[in-house]
Amino acid sequence: MTSARPAPTGLTSGARRVLQQNWTGSCTVPSPGLYPHQWSWDSAFIAIGSRHISPRRAQRELETLLAAQWGDGRIPHIVFNPAVPPAAYFPGPDFWRSATAGAAAGAPRHTETSGIVQPPVHALACLLVHRADPRSSARHGFLARAYPRLAAWHRYLGRARDLGGGGLVSVVHPWEPGMDNSPCWDAPLARVAPAPPGTFRRADLDHGAASDRPTDLDYGRYVRLAADYRDGGYADHTAGSAFLVEDPGVNALLIASEHALAEIAALLGADAAPHRTRAADLTAALVDRLWDPAAGLFLCRDLHGGGPGRDLHGGGPARDLHGGGPVRDLHGGGPARDLHGGGPVRELGAAGLLPLLVPGLPGDIAAALVRTACGDHFGLGRTARLVPSYDLLGPAFDPARYWRGPAWFNVNWLLERGLRLHGEPERADALRTAVLETAVTSGFAEYVDPYTGEARGTRDFSWTAALALDLAVAAGQEP
Ligand code: SER
Repeated sequence: MTSARPAPTGLTSGARRVLQQNWTGSCTVPSPGLYPHQWSWDSAFIAIGSRHISPRRAQRELETLLAAQWGDGRIPHIVFNPAVPPAAYFPGPDFWRSATAGAAAGAPRHTETSGIVQPPVHALACLLVHRADPRSSARHGFLARAYPRLAAWHRYLGRARDLGGGGLVSVVHPWEPGMDNSPCWDAPLARVAPAPPGTFRRADLDHGAASDRPTDLDYGRYVRLAADYRDGGYADHTAGSAFLVEDPGVNALLIASEHALAEIAALLGADAAPHRTRAADLTAALVDRLWDPAAGLFLCRDLHGGGPGRDLHGGGPARDLHGGGPVRDLHGGGPARDLHGGGPVRELGAAGLLPLLVPGLPGDIAAALVRTACGDHFGLGRTARLVPSYDLLGPAFDPARYWRGPAWFNVNWLLERGLRLHGEPERADALRTAVLETAVTSGFAEYVDPYTGEARGTRDFSWTAALALDLAVAAGQEP
């Protein structure tokens, strides 16, 4: 059943305005001040919304991103716009040096990009963009051009990034799962020696309150990890990142996209069966490696970890997750990782709810995820206005700071979809209404306080506008 409520006043016109002002002519920047280039998963979410304004523009958004794909199949997390002044964003093209440092991995020669990746939501976005106007899509050969690139992207993740050896994709940097500053990274990140503070200048603090953004210490660690990856030629198997995590959100989005790729293959008359098989194999691996029945949630797996972690069910912390242990030197002296083991990260992050998006998730697990989302830790439909990025009761919860508690619109859009997929239309309708209202009242904020909906981060944020527009259309509130 769809809600008959009218769209909140200003939603449609406001969302269109944001998407128009952030459009560069070939892609949409997430935010002209804070994020003035093209970001990978942002563009996927943006296209999902902008398809309702102009299907052709949404196709273009994704094609601009796919054109920057590397020879090894990776889709970089940033595609740099050479017209933007170098000081506007850090780490910029001079830091990543993709055309030279990434040459062996097939980085484009004439487009500068970063070398890490973001969650693979692109095949899902391409399918949704196609569906907005199948005739325009067919006329422009949109799916036919996108399909081989999307398939190569998924192959890269499957072959180069199964660093745990258990069939799941690993991330090598906290920016790769998109939830940069999640408390889930505190323990794995504590082992990384930060780059010295004087060796770089943060541009993000020119555009956001320091209390909403990551700390300098965490930033130093992000810089160190990215520099080490670059200096290893962006090689995955040989580089041995000090940070190696299997994240349920990344893997759930890959599975949803693998299902989308099967549909795209079928539309093109290609063989869909390998994509369906891959989706089923990934789903089995996700459940096997990351499902935690006691927590009622999927947990991240730290491939360098394996300690007992925090007791999630009371009793307080079993160890200091914030740097109490020795910092292991992972940058010398040979391999320091066990590729087959690791251990769960005992923190409840919203990424652990995202497998609700997965078609074919066992019914008892989907039901448990809904219970967890609606329970005390995430407060859906109860204490929280929108689902928070991290456990409301967790020791590191902070309603203001980047990915450590605030609610994000893309996470809530994904959960709305998952609730609908798994037979929870009333909860999905209520969440959709809350997303639409909060998008408008927050000024299309980058993120919000999960209890009050108060705006945090930057405003006029592109994916907030795009995904709110998409939900308004789905609700029949916008033609
Ligand atoms: N979100 C990260 C940043 O703050 C990396 O993409 O720049």
